[in-house]
Formats: sequence, C-alpha cells, structure tokens
Amino acid sequence: MKHTEIEQLAKHWIVESAKSPAHPRVQEVTLRLVTDLCKAIEDLNITPTEFWKGLEYFSEAGARNELGLLAPGIGLERFLDIRADEADEQAGLVGGTPRTIEGPLYVAGAPESTGFARLDDGTEVDKAEPLFMQGTVYGADGKPLANAKVEVWHANTLGGYSFFDKTQSTFNLRRTIFTDENGRYAFQSIMPNGYGCPPDGTTQALLNLLGRHGNRPAHIHFFVSAEGHRKLTTQINIDGDKYLWDDFAFASREGLVPAVTRISDAVELKKKGVSKPYASIDFDIRMVVEKSAATSGIVERVRAAA
Ligand SMILES: [Fe+2]
Repeated sequence: MKHTEIEQLAKHWIVESAKSPAHPRVQEVTLRLVTDLCKAIEDLNITPTEFWKGLEYFSEAGARNELGLLAPGIGLERFLDIRADEADEQAGLVGGTPRTIEGPLYVAGAPESTGFARLDDGTEVDKAEPLFMQGTVYGADGKPLANAKVEVWHANTLGGYSFFDKTQSTFNLRRTIFTDENGRYAFQSIMPNGYGCPPDGTTQALLNLLGRHGNRPAHIHFFVSAEGHRKLTTQINIDGDKYLWDDFAFASREGLVPAVTRISDAVELKKKGVSKPYASIDFDIRMVVEKSAATSGIVERVRAAA
C-alpha cells in the first residue's frame, strides 16, 4: 500500500469518522501516531502475529509498571531532555546545571529540614561507605539562593529504593533539604550502588533481544526548586562506576560527574562522627529563570506518594 493511501485511511478512521467535537490535540497526536504505525507495519511487513505480540508486550509492561523503565531504556526520556535543552538554548537560557532524566522512582512527601539532613537510616553503616555531599544553590543572578528546595533520593548498597523496595524503612535515602541563609545544602548518607532492570521484567526482555544490558551507574537524584526559577530535574553519577558512560538510560552527562574525595584523616572522621573513611562530594547547583518560551521544568506524571 502507498503511504498516501495509508494517510487517507488513517484520516478517515481518526478524523472524518468523528460524530461529535474532538479534542484537537488528542486527535492530532492520535492521527499522527496511527498513520506512522501503519506505515511501519507496511514498510517492515509486520505480521499479524508480530503485531499482537507487540500489543501483549505493552500490556505486560503496563501490568508490571515497567513503562517508566522502558521509556528511558529505549532513549525516549533522554530525547525529551535533548528537546528541552534545545528550547532552553533558543530561549537564551544557558549556564544552568544540566538537566537529566527523573526516572520512575521518586516518592513525594519525604521529611524536610533546613541546611542539613541525614538520608540513611543507619541499617547499612557496617557495609556501606559513608557519604557526605554538600554545595551551594545559585540563582540566575549568580548569587546564593536561600530557601531553595533540594529534594534528593538514591538507592541503597543493593541498588534498591525505599518505598519500592519494601525491605527498607519509610523514606530511607529520601529527604527534602531547604538551603540555609547562605544557599548551602549538605547531607550525610551512604554511597549508593548502581542497579539494573528487573532481570525477569519486560524491559530487560527487550534489551536482551537488542543485545543490550540494563544497568545504570550509581547515581543520586535531585529536584531543585526555587521561587522565580525553573525547576531542575537532575542526577549526579558516582565517578569511577563501571557503567559511568554506559548507562542503559542514557542519563550520564558532562557536568554531572563531580569528583569524589576520599577522606581518611582521623581528625576529619571524628568531626563527622564516622568510624571509617568516607567519601565527600561537592556539587553546586545553578538555577535558571523560568521563561514561558522554554519548556516548563515542571513535568506532570503520576508519582508515588508514601
Ligand atoms: Fe535512580
């Protein structure tokens, strides 16, 4: 079948068959996606069996709540970031901390504090490397921003996230820290490990067929919000991780791999109240102004609330 014939058919099915006023945006997007899918079926000679297997795949991925994992795994979440970066550049918004993907594991409602928080519940202190991370949040004018909201969440030593991993305590490794009067935030935690897609899941099943692994380097997630500024969604990666530049979700970026300093000096350990050498990471965050010409930093999607 010719593409022009497919276009006519899709237009008939989606647009011309409407009997009442359609939602214009939904109609526009549905028409495009159905047309493009039919063209792919035609061009690739997708068989009925392949078509139904594909639908079954999405049904299973949905039932397992893995669509939020599939999207970064095939690059789509990164693609949204690339487009947002382009829009920022066109709007003249430069110089901010790079954004990167949110991933599917944020949970709203973490305990709040000002200046400092301890993220871990202490259950892994024996096996984990202590981590201290700190920095300043700067506003678009280059000055430190007091009362900026820094939401931070990361995995434990097994690569699991509290709430989703029911063996962890509520809000373990999740906190909301408001910067102090000097724009500073700091936290004590444990060094996270990277993680992979569930090995028996739908995302990994596809990755296997594509000859790809499903691993992420160790990382720490952030949402940073401040009055008059664009909400920043980002992560830092832990330098030295085997998958640092081989993330299955394509979220690693220049500017988001701060140096990790190892501290073993006894005086410093005592100051921090830890009994073994710890890792220290300095990471400043630079915000940009909210501008209507650019893509909003606020992304609406269903998120867990504990
Ligand atoms: Fe993550």
